[in-house]
Amino acid sequence: MTAIRSVVLGCGSYLPERVLTNAELAARIDTSDDWIVQRTGIRQRHIAADDEFTSHLAIKAALAALAHAQIDAQTIDLIVLATSTPDNTFPATAVAVQHALGINHGVAFDLQAVCSGFVFALTTADNFLRAGAHKRALVIGAETFSRLLDWSDRGTCVLFGDGAGAVVLEAQPHAGTIADPGMLTTHLRSDGRHKSKLFVDGGPGSTKTVGHLRMEGREVFKHAVGMITDVIVDAFNATGLTADDINWFIPHQANKRIIDASAHKLHIAPQKVVLTVDQHGNTSAASIPLALSVAVKDGRVKKGDLVLFEAMGGGFTWGSALVRW
Ligand code: UT7
Repeated sequence: MTAIRSVVLGCGSYLPERVLTNAELAARIDTSDDWIVQRTGIRQRHIAADDEFTSHLAIKAALAALAHAQIDAQTIDLIVLATSTPDNTFPATAVAVQHALGINHGVAFDLQAVCSGFVFALTTADNFLRAGAHKRALVIGAETFSRLLDWSDRGTCVLFGDGAGAVVLEAQPHAGTIADPGMLTTHLRSDGRHKSKLFVDGGPGSTKTVGHLRMEGREVFKHAVGMITDVIVDAFNATGLTADDINWFIPHQANKRIIDASAHKLHIAPQKVVLTVDQHGNTSAASIPLALSVAVKDGRVKKGDLVLFEAMGGGFTWGSALVRW
């Protein structure tokens, strides 16, 4: 029996040049490098230049992913871009990327699931490809969260950074077993009862302003590990795979303590966890493809490896994706 699989052909990323360290933040607000490192694992984050928009980061990540996949942009017929920081309220940032890549066929659209955005976008593209509607997809997570921050709120402004990452997926016929390459299973969830625990206090339909990110950090933390591990157990149950089968765990990079606790609860060995939160901070929808790119570039992720993604964020939204590299 053959089945269509969404196979990863390549990945790439981009980080703005400007690095903002904890020490610089400590000089501006009542915080310290010690507090930030101990509570979050973050040491620095990248911040986009004033004239650098989410689309600019996304285009650079997309070009890197296309180069890594060694394919022509003209063969892409689907672009799904996850972001909560679009260049404009509309049109979608994805069409700016599509235009910059010189593509005017197929379809490009944005998807908004905050920090879970990349897993949601990956799942969406996988479903489009497996339905036979499209052949090759660019899945991008790109954010300029620095634009949403209240730089006087030490509870949030120390946590986030800017960046973008992308993967190229291709629909390929395969036997449909868990040994075949590509997306094996995806699991998405949301629960709007938690929408006021992590939100932006503005928007075109309410305040007509962009607004600032607001978070009840402790509340988010309290739910994070349970939600993350639930959707990973769903992925294990759907495939018959276990934590021992996983080669690399590439979680959303919000807080090292959340990542460590999730890996511990799932019995995933610490050496299998890809960590970039120390260097990038929380880049929301960009964090997973940024971490993936690091682990691919340094040779950790190799052909045939089983890679597990998970994310949890505003909404709440959360999800997992299990991929054979
Ligand atoms: O990506 C989307 C999902 N988001 C997340 O996963 C974030 C989840 N939440 C977290 O990561 C953590 O809750 C935070 C890192 C945001 C906060 O860590 P915490 O251990 O939960 O600290 P807390 O909020 O309970 O605050 C402890 C203390 C407070 O002081 P008091 O009330 O004990 O005197 C805060 O005012 O730490 C204080 N505090 C700070 N101190 C120095 C809060 N932010 C800072 C800061 N520097 N930047």
